[in-house]
Amino acid sequence: MSAIFESFSLRSVTIKNRIVMAPMLMYAGQEDGLVNDLHLAHYGARALGGVGMITTEVVAVDPSGRISHQDLGLWSDAQIGGLRRLADFIRHCGARSCLQLAHAGRKSQVEGEIFAPSAIAHAASTRVPTELTLAQIGEIIDAYRSATVRAVETGFDCLEIHAAHGYLAHEFLSPLSNMRTDEYGGSLKNRQRFLLQVVEAVRAVWPGDKPLIVRISAEDKAAQGGTTLADTMMLGAALKQAGVDLLSVSAGGLSSVFDGEIYPGYQVEYAAALKRELRMPTACNGSITSSELVESILHSSSSDLVYIGRALLRDPFWLLDVARAIGVEPELAIPTYARATGPYQRGH
Ligand SMILES: Cc1cc2nc3c(=O)[nH]c(=O)nc-3n(C[C@H](O)[C@H](O)[C@H](O)COP(=O)(O)O)c2cc1C
Repeated sequence: MSAIFESFSLRSVTIKNRIVMAPMLMYAGQEDGLVNDLHLAHYGARALGGVGMITTEVVAVDPSGRISHQDLGLWSDAQIGGLRRLADFIRHCGARSCLQLAHAGRKSQVEGEIFAPSAIAHAASTRVPTELTLAQIGEIIDAYRSATVRAVETGFDCLEIHAAHGYLAHEFLSPLSNMRTDEYGGSLKNRQRFLLQVVEAVRAVWPGDKPLIVRISAEDKAAQGGTTLADTMMLGAALKQAGVDLLSVSAGGLSSVFDGEIYPGYQVEYAAALKRELRMPTACNGSITSSELVESILHSSSSDLVYIGRALLRDPFWLLDVARAIGVEPELAIPTYARATGPYQRGH
């Protein structure tokens, strides 16, 4: 019995199966941060390929918070229309849509000043960021709020706050990148303050019937020290309390070192532990490329959803091949695809 094609609901949103396209920055945009035809083709193809939900790549809440000049943005009203078109496009192609909001912090590669909780560079080869003032922290939280108000206009089904992989929210969380001595640094509670204030600001304006997801790095995986799973357990409990519906669980990214082994499903254990302890839905990701591994994750209740990244870059129709292999006829936006994937492969 396959669990992959069972639906899953968060608030009012029902996802037709358990496969989510992981957020992946495509560097396909322009300086203006607007959606273009490449984005429509890229996401539309994966939606036609049958995944339950598409998560967009990072969408910057502020120009200084872009990873690159090719990022999408939602810092201006002019950017709403393109994202609305993308959300509509994904829906017509048969999938649910999730928009990922982020500020890159010290990992921004755009010219000019870059910002972080403390003036510590990401790596020896990257620029030293400017330490954010309390007023600037408040402005970034406001930028998240304003971007969310615009996101409501776009019609996306879900919103995901990117607090993993060494971007700004993660930089606040980790004792390796946050050396502040004010209320945003020091104790675990203080380091969690920024993300919890972002969540509070976002949840206040994001519709009550729509799900809010937070993507976290369960452990820093740096060579020494950093955030532990126990820290993340406490964070998860606070996020659940603040109205977050699902944790998308990843790891690492704070430094250029990844101190750990990489093997199929290497991050599933974190998602499983958080789901079990916090009794809240989780998604896992990381080198998951086979339907057998996905079935095992779902049947063992290790996660509710599975994010698939690079396997979907290689093959937008990865899930249709899975369906064919296990003899399932999935719900598709273009039913005639079943002529090629279903049990009756008539060519005429
Ligand atoms: C090209 C590329 C771009 C990525 N961009 C993002 C991103 O914008 N936001 C994010 O949260 N993760 C990003 N990631 C990480 C993926 O979402 C995912 O966690 C990672 O690729 C591991 O999953 P996989 O082994 O299935 O690819 C990116 C990964 C790749 C390969």
